[in-house]
Amino acid sequence: MSDAVSIAVDTPSRSYQVTVGSGVLGRLGRLARATCGGQRACVVSDSNVAPLYAEAALGSLRAAGYEAGLLTFPAGEASKNVRTLSALLEGIAGLGLTRDDVVVALGGGVTGDMAGLAAALYLRGCQVVQVPTSLLAMVDSSVGGKTAIDLEAGKNLAGAFLQPSLVLADVDCLKSLSAGLLRDSCGEVVKHAVLDGPQMLRDLTEHPANESLEPGRMTALVARNVRIKRDVVADDERERGLRQTLNLGHTIGHAIEAASGFALGHGSSVAAGLCCMARACERKGWSEQGLAALVEGAVRAHGLPTGTDVPTDDLMRFAAHDKKRHADSVNVVVPLAPGKVEVRAVGLDGLRELIELGCGRD
Ligand code: GLY
Repeated sequence: MSDAVSIAVDTPSRSYQVTVGSGVLGRLGRLARATCGGQRACVVSDSNVAPLYAEAALGSLRAAGYEAGLLTFPAGEASKNVRTLSALLEGIAGLGLTRDDVVVALGGGVTGDMAGLAAALYLRGCQVVQVPTSLLAMVDSSVGGKTAIDLEAGKNLAGAFLQPSLVLADVDCLKSLSAGLLRDSCGEVVKHAVLDGPQMLRDLTEHPANESLEPGRMTALVARNVRIKRDVVADDERERGLRQTLNLGHTIGHAIEAASGFALGHGSSVAAGLCCMARACERKGWSEQGLAALVEGAVRAHGLPTGTDVPTDDLMRFAAHDKKRHADSVNVVVPLAPGKVEVRAVGLDGLRELIELGCGRD
């Protein structure tokens, strides 16, 4: 077992530890007992992850004295809706949880969102422990307290902020991910590298995140990403300023994802969105020359798409419905240079120009 790493996250609403390492799932009960207290724990998981890890999670919680139960839902983004949320809330109530008790999100991004939002709503808020099992959830969605469900009108349109009481990322869980899902998660890792600076972009281009799942290496990689996200959410928990920079690549990325009918994964769409923005901003003269080539190099090294064949009009239709839209402008994150980004409001004509300049394949 390689050494675990703990990262402290301090936000105005809560301070908590993110523990990353090999085998840390076995510490769930002990750490939850020490951090959260309570008598009952409800593990929420999906139909893919529950058969793999629910028994270990429940066993660890019970060994620490919790009365622990399991709620599952069918795996996939299609479950991230109000019907699943309602079933989870009824299930949590059925297990008799009180406000002192704990909901445990065991799984990927959808599970973290569903369990987190259920915990935010149940009794107007109980504690949630995030136990991410996908790389995307480890490096991004389990940290920072965003929870949401999709509406007919769009993705992640109803939600709440609830910081977890504890995050436990067991890198051994990554071994059960398909190569495709692992690759897809790397889109958010490359995004973090563009936010962080040239060294991380170079490191990832030479040694892609999905090159090997050796536990020591993955612990270091996940911890590096968590620290980047931690520094942002600690400064701006509610996305009023700096946190918007985490949306780098997402305006065009979301449009690419939506235009594919969600057949293209989120991370792959973000990777393509990053490259489109980098090319567009360089061609506009906003970014340092050579930035696009660096971003494309890192994206290509992970086997992710560097562009899209979706026509501009289709991308505009989806991008104009972006959550970050105001009356007649959209906030886009402009990559100025590796490690340097800026949020700019652009009108719809400005957005169309960026799409025309940057999209297509390099
Ligand atoms: N995934 C972006 C954020 O948490 O703000």
